[in-house]
Order: sequence, then structure tokens, then C-alpha cells
Amino acid sequence: MRTHFCSHLNSHHTDQTVTLYGWIDRRRDHGGVVFLDLRDRSGIVQVVSDPQRTPASYTQAAELRHESVVKVQGRVTQRPPDSLNPRLASGEIEVYADSLELLNGLGRPLPFGVSVHEAETVREELRLKYRYLDLRAARMSHNLQLRHRVVKTLRRYLEDVEGFLEVETPILTRSTPEGARDYLVPSRVNPGEWFALPQSPQLFKQLLMVAGYERYYQVARCFRDEDLRADRQPEFTQLDLEMSFLTQEEVMDLNEGLIVHLFKEIKGIDLPRPFKRLTYAQAMDRYGSDKPDTRYGLELVDVSGLLVGCGFKVFTEAIAQGGLVKVLPVPGGNETLSNVRIKPGGDLFKVAQEAGAKGLAYLRVRAGGEIDTIGALRDNLTPEQKRQLLTQTGAEPGDLLLFAAGPAPQVHKTLDRLRQYIARELGLIDPDLINLLWVTDFPMFEWNDGEQRLESLHHPFTAPYPEDVHDLKSARAQAYDLVYNGLEIGGGSLRIYQPELQRRVFDTIGISEETARDKFGFLLEAFEYGSPPHGGIAYGLDRLVMLLAGEESIRDVIAFPKTQQARCLLTEAPAGVDPKQLRELQVTSTHRPKIPGDASRTP
Ligand code: AMO
Repeated sequence: MRTHFCSHLNSHHTDQTVTLYGWIDRRRDHGGVVFLDLRDRSGIVQVVSDPQRTPASYTQAAELRHESVVKVQGRVTQRPPDSLNPRLASGEIEVYADSLELLNGLGRPLPFGVSVHEAETVREELRLKYRYLDLRAARMSHNLQLRHRVVKTLRRYLEDVEGFLEVETPILTRSTPEGARDYLVPSRVNPGEWFALPQSPQLFKQLLMVAGYERYYQVARCFRDEDLRADRQPEFTQLDLEMSFLTQEEVMDLNEGLIVHLFKEIKGIDLPRPFKRLTYAQAMDRYGSDKPDTRYGLELVDVSGLLVGCGFKVFTEAIAQGGLVKVLPVPGGNETLSNVRIKPGGDLFKVAQEAGAKGLAYLRVRAGGEIDTIGALRDNLTPEQKRQLLTQTGAEPGDLLLFAAGPAPQVHKTLDRLRQYIARELGLIDPDLINLLWVTDFPMFEWNDGEQRLESLHHPFTAPYPEDVHDLKSARAQAYDLVYNGLEIGGGSLRIYQPELQRRVFDTIGISEETARDKFGFLLEAFEYGSPPHGGIAYGLDRLVMLLAGEESIRDVIAFPKTQQARCLLTEAPAGVDPKQLRELQVTSTHRPKIPGDASRTP
């Protein structure tokens, strides 16, 4: 039997005989003495074998290679003062091996080194293909153990402090309208019919409130077939909550308690409460984003009112068409951002262009408040407009003003991207800051230009403010997102619990009564049987752990993630299936393989 984990040994165990299991992380021969770094899940301990003190194990040590799996029995010994290793938890001691038993060697060379001493230069594709080896290495082992502690801490708090009950909800279910495409599963016993994998447990958690469970939570797997990024996976995990009889303030307060507790337990950090708040309208106005990074300034200024009558056509036309002209003031930008970078071909221009901007006008404030700008602006602003521009933007000599003009969404996207890019470029972000921000009062709906209809900004079960219900189209939602340094880590809302209001919301987004009955009839009916007022939130658990681990991709905190192409490089999923399976399911694929005769693709 194992008596200890490697890194748990310290000088308190001196002279104890221990049994350890693990892998050989490193092996060194020093003048006839063999030093082995033995590694298990906990970390490393140094094992020593020499011909005089431990002759039996010395012979056995000859067989051992990197990553050999071994059983070690030996005696814990205080290290001599000159060989203490403060970088190791077990660095005060070493284990003199009486016996070193090789349990398994290696059948073939490792595709990459996994030792703690290895520099991290392995390509991600290789790491994902041999994920089990990557998980053996220190980085992923640390991240997954952190993830475990995060989930454990969240569970303990929700259950023991706040009285939440964990309930599992189905994976084979009906489509939930979270806005992404569904992953579908054909039903063999119900030919022609399909399950959808849940995009979230939204409808079930609301039904659990109707059932009277009052406080539900789940560490829930969700599936969304959407374009992938560093913070998005097709299959991800939410910490999903729903509560009855709480106001929006009470829901937010309870969640602040949860997050504050998590940071204290995991990072030892005391987050200030209450968290900062911005309404959606304020966030868009000041930052051009509904998830602003508030660790730095660079706030936008709307100058449409001032420039409505200026002579520069690009600006006046944008305003006349119902759009905006906004400025991103960059303090000291004259020094740090040259014209070459702002003009076509420059990196700032490119950022603006990729966000949909057609141009990037700029203005530099020189000593004495003199203005240096593009010709069109210089010639078409009155001295009063120039003066007002400086007053409204608070610009000082040395500052640079960047302009975006056009429809509001495009102006905001452009300046949001530029703001983030410039903050990174100029090193304006203090990496030690943690800003948690609630964004509230989202509009209920936004216009979908492609489909020429309103659609829900969150989901159609979100409740409007009671004082706004008379005009649903422009109503504000009782919805809230939690933003961590510019990344949305959670979002939720109070829900509609009256069938009549739910029908009006469906109507507003063009879901007919028939479709609503067909898709969500069970929910609407449930609301007829005594539904309590309720609301909830879901956190992106992967994102939360990524931030706590200081990683930049959620793939680094998920044991077996998919690539950006939604593939698993380890199992090579998705893959073709046996035609017999498809026949049983009564499913035919219209896809034709690109390479004729490629057996790996299902015809
Ligand atoms: P929402 O769609 O905002 O809300 O999702 C909640 C949180 O889940 C995370 N998230 C993702 N993480 C990784 N990969 C993805 N593809 C992905 N998509 C979302 C985000 C997000 O904030 N049912 C509602 C919650 C509610 O109203 O209670 C919902 O799912 O961090």
C-alpha cells in the first residue's frame, strides 16, 4: 500500500519507512550515486540509491528510464544543508530506496517530454493528440487540480451556506433557445425524430422552480454548435443556478457572496463588495461594449451633438442617418502612436477596418491647444467646434483623438476593438487588478437585420422591468451579466412566470402561438399550475477556471477539449460511422466526401 504522496513528505517524516508509487521524472548519476525524481499527482520527491547504503535498489535503478512506472520503498532522510531544495515542497528530505520495483517500462519513445524540467515548447496539436501525456505534465495537472478545487469550493458554498440542491437535468432533450445551433441526436426508436443536446439547462431549471425546489444548482454540461474561439468550446460546463422568491438585487447579492468566497478560498484575495455596476446603456456609451474591461480608462466620448452641423460630410451623413460620431481619446497618444499606424496600412487602421470602419479620422492636440489633424477636419471645423471638442473630450496637449462615425453598433465595435488594442499596446493594463463588474438593464430585444425581426438579447424567458411592460419592444430586461476584466463569465435574469406575458414576448420576436405551443407548450402549461417568481444565472465554469489559473484559453483547463475546428485530436472525433448504424437510424447523409473512395468518410 502507498503510505504517502511524494510531495507531502517533509522533515516530520524523517526516519519513517515509506512506500511510494509514481513515474521517474528525471534520473541523474553522480559519482556512483543515483538520484531519481519520483513524480506522482502531488509533485516530486528525490529518491536516492547508492551501492553502499542501498545495494539492492542500486542494481534495480539501472533498469529505470524517464517515465518508467515504479514502486519505491525506502527511508525518509534529512538532506544535507547544502542540498536543500526550497523549490520543492519535499525539498528538505530525500528517500533512500531499499527497493525500486519497475512496474512498467516504456514500449516506445515519448512524443514529447513531460518532466517538470521540460520547457513548454510543445505544439498544441501534439499536446492534444497525446493529451494523456500532456495531462501528466505539471501545467495541466496543476490546472485540473485547481479546477477540482474551484468546483468543490462552489459546491460547498452553494450547498452548505446557501442551501442549494443539485439536480441533474437531461442531456437528450429538446432544443433550448440560447441562440446557437443545436447538436442533434437521431432517435432510433422514434425514426425521423431528433433529440437536441442542451445549450443550457434553462427550461428544466425553471420547471424545477415550478416544482418547488426553490434553490437549484448543477455543474452542467452544455453543447453549442457555434464558431469557436479561445474562450468558446462546443461542449462546455456551466455552474447553473436558479432561485425562487428573490429580487434581482437579492440574486446579485447572493452571487457576489459566492464569487467573493471563491476568490478568498482559491486566491486568498479579498474582493471589494459590492461589485461595480454599469447599465447596458452606460457600458455602451462609455466603452462601446457590454463587457468592458474597466481596469483602464480610455473612455469614449459622444461628439455627435457637437459635430451635427460641421462641414465634414462623413460625420454629418453618419449623424443624419441616425448614427453617431464618437471619439476615443488617447492621453499622450502623440508620443506613442504615430500617423503611419493610424493611416491605411497601419496596425490601428487595420484594427478599425476589421471592425467594419471605413476610415479612421484622427486629431492631435499640440502645445497651447493647437490642433493638428487630417485636412477634412481642419478645414471643416469652426474654431468654436475645435474648442468644444477639446473641452468635451477633456483632451490636453500631447493627446490623440481617434474618431469613428457610422451606425452605433459599428462605431462601438470599432472603438471597443481599438480601445482594447491600444491598452494592450501601450501597457495600460495592470495585470494584478481584478475588476468584477455587473452589467444590468439590457434591452429585452435587439434587431436582427438578416432576418428583419427583433430577437431576444438573452433568451425569451427573461423578464422585463414591470414598469416597461406596456411597450415591450423598447423594454429593459431584468438581466445581469458578470464581467471579469472584460470577459463575460456569467449571465442571468429574472424570468417571466406569467403565461400571458410569456406569450406577448414570443409574439414580439415573431414566435407564433402555434410554434410556442409546439416548442415550449410544456413550460407555458407549467406556468399555469402555480409558478413562483424566479430567476437565476449561469457561469462559464471553464472561463472562470481559466482566469483563476492565469491561462488564455479554456482548452488549458479542460481535460479533453476540442480544437478550433471542433475536433478531438486524441480520439479523432467526429468520425464516420458504420453505414449499418445510419440505416438503423433511418438517416442518410447528403454529404459527399471530397476525395472519392476515402473510406474514413461516411458516404
Ligand atoms: P449564457 O448563454 O450567457 O446564459 O451562458 C452563460 C455563460 O456560459 C459561458 N459560455 C460559454 N463558455 C464556453 N464555451 C461556450 N461556447 C460558451 N457559451 C457560453 C459564458 C456565459 O456567460 N441559460 C442562460 C443562463 C441563465 O439565464 O440563467 C445561459 O446559458 O461564460
